[in-house]
Amino acid sequence: MCGTLVQERGSQPGELQLDPFAPELLIDPYPTYARLRAQPQVYVRSTRNQRPFPVLSRYSDVQLALRDPRFARSGFGDALRAALGDGPLGRSFAHWMIFQDPPVHTRLRGLVSQAFSPRSVERLQGQISTLVDALLDALRGCTAFDLMAEFAYPLPMLVISELLGVPAADRARFGQWSAAVARGVDSVIREQPDALARADAAATGLTAYFRELMARRRRTPADDLLSRLAVAEQQGDSLSEDELLATCVMLLVAGHETTVNLIGNGLLALFRNPDQLQRLRGEPGIASPAVEELLRFDSPVQRTGRVATVDVELGNRQIIRAGDRITLLLGAANRDPMQFAEPDQLDLGRANAGRHVSFGSGIHYCVGAPLARLEAQIALPRLLQRFPNLRLLSEAVAWQPTFGLRGLQVLPVAI
Ligand code: HEM
Repeated sequence: MCGTLVQERGSQPGELQLDPFAPELLIDPYPTYARLRAQPQVYVRSTRNQRPFPVLSRYSDVQLALRDPRFARSGFGDALRAALGDGPLGRSFAHWMIFQDPPVHTRLRGLVSQAFSPRSVERLQGQISTLVDALLDALRGCTAFDLMAEFAYPLPMLVISELLGVPAADRARFGQWSAAVARGVDSVIREQPDALARADAAATGLTAYFRELMARRRRTPADDLLSRLAVAEQQGDSLSEDELLATCVMLLVAGHETTVNLIGNGLLALFRNPDQLQRLRGEPGIASPAVEELLRFDSPVQRTGRVATVDVELGNRQIIRAGDRITLLLGAANRDPMQFAEPDQLDLGRANAGRHVSFGSGIHYCVGAPLARLEAQIALPRLLQRFPNLRLLSEAVAWQPTFGLRGLQVLPVAI
């Protein structure tokens, strides 16, 4: 096998370095993950000249680190912001709940969690179905198209815009801004100043847009999340203006850049496993467990990070030192045979698929999980039923050159 894993000169026996930039990690990271899980100690260098830090790939270790308060999130956010500098993106990240520990995290999360509860999200079922049908109607008459551009990409953007209350006329701009902000993290890791400049410009554009829209909603509230957040801010001092705007940017980016990849990666997995595709087409009622298995099989978020606040010994006797930044490979944990039997098989009927860590675990468990699930549970069966002959045009799919997110650039299909 290729050079993804190497024994560095001077490292201890059993310690391996993972090259996070290896092209095969983009195309198919799972063989490398299997080798990682078998290693006692693996380290990664995220930027070329940085101190290597530990990588966790086993399900039990990843779960522990996600749930254990000895592994903090804020330290990770601080390191990221230090790398980003005091630009618009760094200033926005400073208020993203995903980079905070309690009590700040608890306060920020409390403000939005109700809007994303399973009951609140269920009310969106009709709207999501209407949006899905409109996108599918627009494809009538097409014989070949890119599923990412025509379906997977626009749907989550329409849904999150609808939920936030972004007027339809403004939504086109959002796609580019959202993608640029999402690439901001990668730009630091990959040391790409151009991408960082684009991410900063997008953060400025989005923040200014939400400031203006929020002012309108304060004057004339509507039945949307922005209006509810504006009122929450006015009624108490629990949320500052900067926190409010950063929360809007975070929801847009987190809600869009991930769900796109659930639909895209899920469809690719189905095309590559035609028996499972037929199963979902024939039994749309299994959409809920099917979506869990698709999330497990090829997670849209492949990795996240924490910082150890004290020394911690893991089950395999690996010692994580206080101050160590650790990388948690969610995609590797989801394929751990100690947790999932025959993990490399796609099985839409898998009984414990829902135990995947694709939405994280513990206090940072994805607040938008009910929404992402509902979108995929509606979108995938409807697409397959509307186009019974839908098939992959070419196996040569291209992956986004991203670090933490995993998703396709294009998914060429024919009807
Ligand atoms: C398939 C789609 C999605 C995936 C795979 C996903 C994945 C994740 C993961 C892994 C985390 C935890 C990160 C960590 O603990 O380090 C997370 C947190 C979060 N997600 Fe998602 N997400 C998805 C969709 C959404 C949507 C639709 C929204 C909102 C509209 C959203 C908003 C958030 C927020 C706000 C957090 C931070 C929660 C906190 O810190 O308490 N996500 N997501």
